[in-house]
Amino acid sequence: MDPNAEQSLLDRSCASALIRWATFYQNSGAWSNDAAYNAGRKFRGDLFRFRKPNYEDLYVPAAYIIHYQLGHIYMAKVALERLNQSRKPDQKFIRIVDFGAGASACRIATTLMMAESLERGQPIDNVYIVEVDESRFMQSMGEFVWQAFVGIVLTEFTNSPLAQAVENIASIQVSHWRSVLAIKTNTWLTAFHAIYPDTYDMRTEAAQIFNHISPTMGVFTCHSRKLEKMREAFPFHNRREGGGGFYPRFIPGPDGKVFPPTFHLAEQAKRLGFRNQRRRPFLQAKDCAILWGSENPF
Ligand SMILES: C[S@@+](CC[C@H](N)C(=O)[O-])C[C@H]1O[C@@H](n2cnc3c(N)ncnc32)[C@H](O)[C@@H]1O
Repeated sequence: MDPNAEQSLLDRSCASALIRWATFYQNSGAWSNDAAYNAGRKFRGDLFRFRKPNYEDLYVPAAYIIHYQLGHIYMAKVALERLNQSRKPDQKFIRIVDFGAGASACRIATTLMMAESLERGQPIDNVYIVEVDESRFMQSMGEFVWQAFVGIVLTEFTNSPLAQAVENIASIQVSHWRSVLAIKTNTWLTAFHAIYPDTYDMRTEAAQIFNHISPTMGVFTCHSRKLEKMREAFPFHNRREGGGGFYPRFIPGPDGKVFPPTFHLAEQAKRLGFRNQRRRPFLQAKDCAILWGSENPF
């Protein structure tokens, strides 16, 4: 897919979800631009200090969309593409369990990855994603982003590989990994910036998740400063480490001028009280991913 069209699609999908989210709370009288500004600052401060934000605060999913969603979609896409390269050609159905799915960045990234795989003549027939997240707020925002994304794809990209990918992806949202049905074939386990070894004692729980889900391969990402701890905390098999890529800096506008890829999102952020962020999405993709597989797929 043309990278400019892809960035514009993602920017507009996120902007549209943000408008829908804020409109809902404005109509119920709960939204205030001053509170949004303060909550946005606190959210970024929490993440900077590796403190878990309050994902049940109504402003936090909105701030997440503004500051992280685009970068995370791109990071997930790069990582999933690497996993896809290790897929056996006869494996046309993939199940993904996405731990800490947040606002469904992995679902959108998977759709983009499926479309590109199809364009290369390596179709994936179906993907089923189980999104595990304890925050209903983040999951609802994920649904908003997904619906906006699908709406644009089905009107502007008809009969394209992307439209086909949208038709061939199904998902469910659950709040705990124990709700995941244990089907032990061809499952990828992903966790994008959801597991921080110094805030969770995940060793025991990770072993339980692995036993329950039996993933064939997967990817965990975290901030690059935490990668060493992640390595120590998890018994990765057949590990390969990799980074992501950088989100391009500018895209051309309809009048020929170039603008940052977060143009629409930044406009809405400003209107709703958040700090304006007209720059490329923050992406911690450098050396932040550990890809692994249980059957030496790499
Ligand atoms: C930084 S966000 C990342 C979201 C998404 N993976 C992405 O890349 O955009 C972390 C998410 O993990 C979720 N989370 C954290 N701990 C969790 C747990 N123990 N069980 C389920 N979800 C969890 C949070 O609710 C939040 O939505």
